[in-house]
Amino acid sequence: MDLKEKIDLEKLPVHVAIIMDGNGRWARMRGKHRVFGHEQGVISVRETAEAAAELGIKYLTLYAFSTENWNRPMQEVEALMELLVQTINLETKTLIDNNIRLLTIGDTQRLNHQCYAELQKAIATTASNTRMDLILALSYSSRWEITEAMKQIAAKVRTGALQPADITENMISSHLATADIPDPELLIRTSGEYRISNFMLWQSAYTEMYFTQTMWPDFRKNDLHAAIIDFQQRERRFGKLNEQLNTCKK
Ligand code: FPP
Repeated sequence: MDLKEKIDLEKLPVHVAIIMDGNGRWARMRGKHRVFGHEQGVISVRETAEAAAELGIKYLTLYAFSTENWNRPMQEVEALMELLVQTINLETKTLIDNNIRLLTIGDTQRLNHQCYAELQKAIATTASNTRMDLILALSYSSRWEITEAMKQIAAKVRTGALQPADITENMISSHLATADIPDPELLIRTSGEYRISNFMLWQSAYTEMYFTQTMWPDFRKNDLHAAIIDFQQRERRFGKLNEQLNTCKK
């Protein structure tokens, strides 16, 4: 069944973030190498980005490589980097044709030189696109990001540019990698794991979580549509009472 027609386009989440999980297990279940799962996962990336843009979602963040993923066997890390370079080379034209801007969050300088350079090129080429931001979380972890923000703020306090009393939630947000990006309203994790895994810990304070058993390489447009329909059926109270929501608009 095509679920797209059931989506209320007036109530779309502005920012959807996805923890793409299950590539390795998906491949092993088929007797294939884990890297085959990542390769198939690229098809899901394409489908999901296309579906999000078609709907009018403004920000789509994909958790593609975590700080902890550096601890995987070297061959898998290298294969992922290679896949990333290939995908960027293949898809940059599609991003341009579809008016999509590519951004990254994370410690991307740790990526290998070629990967970093290709990414910077794609980011520059798509910089003026306005339809949707596709944000790749690469070499990203939330604790890394929060630690970096704390270092920057502490340095400003030391020079006197900032007083401790000036530190607010908004100011902390503005020092995170996501400074110019609104908090995600919907976070999807595939593969039946119920964890946040060091992803957008600060930003997901009021995010709706959607967990699906679907492995990332099987994730298709209809799966994104199902997650958005589920999101639209929830009541988002932001700490208020149900009665307060009915009487005053947030
Ligand atoms: C999680 O599956 C997936 C990853 C660590 C990598 C995701 C990367 C891609 C889909 C390809 C490249 C991405 C882009 C944006 C071009 P897992 O390996 O943790 O699976 P497992 O939990 O079954 O082991």
